[in-house]
Amino acid sequence: MPDRARTKVTVATEWHRGPIDDRLFGSFVEHLGRCVYTGIYEPDHPTADAWGFRGDVAALVQELGVTLVRYPGGNFVSGYDWRDGIGPRTERPRRLDLAWRTIESNQVGTDDFLQWAARVGVEPMMAVNLGTAGIREAAELVEYCNLERGTTLSDLRRQHGAESPYGVRLWCLGNEMDGPWQIGHKTADEYGRLARETGHAMRLVDPSIELVVCGSSGAWMDTFGSWESTVLDHAWDVADYVSLHAYYEETGGDRASFLASGAAMDRFIEDVVATVDAVAARKRSRKRLRLSFDEWNVWYQSRYADPQHSPIDEAAPRLEDVYGTVDAVVVGDLLMSLVNHADRVAIGCLAQLVNVIAPIRTDPGGAAWRQAIFHPVAETIRRARGRRSLIVGVEGGELATAQHGDVPEVAAAATHDPVSGQITVFLTNRADTVVPVDVRHGGVATWRRARASTVVADERGPLHDAAAAGTARPVELTRAVTQDGVTRLDLPPRSWTVLDAVE
Ligand code: AHR
Repeated sequence: MPDRARTKVTVATEWHRGPIDDRLFGSFVEHLGRCVYTGIYEPDHPTADAWGFRGDVAALVQELGVTLVRYPGGNFVSGYDWRDGIGPRTERPRRLDLAWRTIESNQVGTDDFLQWAARVGVEPMMAVNLGTAGIREAAELVEYCNLERGTTLSDLRRQHGAESPYGVRLWCLGNEMDGPWQIGHKTADEYGRLARETGHAMRLVDPSIELVVCGSSGAWMDTFGSWESTVLDHAWDVADYVSLHAYYEETGGDRASFLASGAAMDRFIEDVVATVDAVAARKRSRKRLRLSFDEWNVWYQSRYADPQHSPIDEAAPRLEDVYGTVDAVVVGDLLMSLVNHADRVAIGCLAQLVNVIAPIRTDPGGAAWRQAIFHPVAETIRRARGRRSLIVGVEGGELATAQHGDVPEVAAAATHDPVSGQITVFLTNRADTVVPVDVRHGGVATWRRARASTVVADERGPLHDAAAAGTARPVELTRAVTQDGVTRLDLPPRSWTVLDAVE
């Protein structure tokens, strides 16, 4: 292969964006399908703990390494009364959830979730209902969760067994309020004002909380851009973060566009950064709002009927996508986009955690297993948590895609741990041919050894069981050779690779 055909990837530990926030590697539990019931919670399961939560699922959540979990929705939160989910389980009401047209038994609620999160070791990120509820319910939920004692609600929490306040820091002001499907959907002016007033009241209860205002439900929304601008005009002073949501899928057999989903995510993030910085400029504010990408994943949304017209069920399977290696490659690429924007994106939530478009699946009463997308998530978190995000130079070819225009053929991201000297370079080959790559350390230091492992998109289609999902575990790329500080490797077609080196 002549030299000019090689893609050149350069990293240097001197060029970095600063530390990656631990919160970038979160996930999401919604009262939807079997995410909660027979997902994280199943009191009759053989592995259930004293509180009725599945031990096998908790172990996989810890192995996955997610740092934060958003709860209780999603669309669900826009019709949810948090008071239904507290107190003795036998007294909790059975309600009709209109977001997903299901019966909600309320056997899991705020206390149950927050205590599970503490046991599993993840930070909770709570969402408040700004669809059918408002300022009072939101402020009272903060009081129930975070106030020490001496009021009816804080004492009620203590009566329910939680003597110490939970100290929940992170709160979402509603969910996808720009979407006409949302219960209590609002215009940007209506939502912006409500978010401001609600955030203000919640902060009067606990001034230490951090608030996420709803951005757009996707870059495809007609109101994208103007929604963020108008909402932030109203809610600038209370907002610490603005949210982004995006789901990617392969449509019409257009695998090239699907494999370039990371480039679409890059663009979305950069467009939101430009929009929120324009608001800052207009307001002559020095605040640099950070982004909360609190729903992202591959979701084969077009395969499902509109949930708002489906028959009413209870904790039945919904949105249980089965993922293959091609999805694992795309999820790896999307994680690289988050790492490459770690200076502005502080929070990320892989949606969702169990059964519903999830890395973990379960059988009721039976096994829990890793889906194909589990592997890139776990491998990335292991190599990015607590590290810095490096600025990576890529000189290579471009690919034409129908949906995203020309995108880099090879995408790259890198992390560095200044204490141990460990560097990881993540590489996606979006092309359907082998791409030869030279990876070098362009700074003062260099590396002598590097080890690469790869996931290759399997063209045979989705993988259906625990054993098959194992094929999405990265395997060592034996032909990675390091000489004079340059690692030469051939990236297989449609693959995601991690290259570990030590300075
Ligand atoms: O994650 C599934 C759904 O996707 C969430 O409930 C909603 O916020 C989004 O539209």
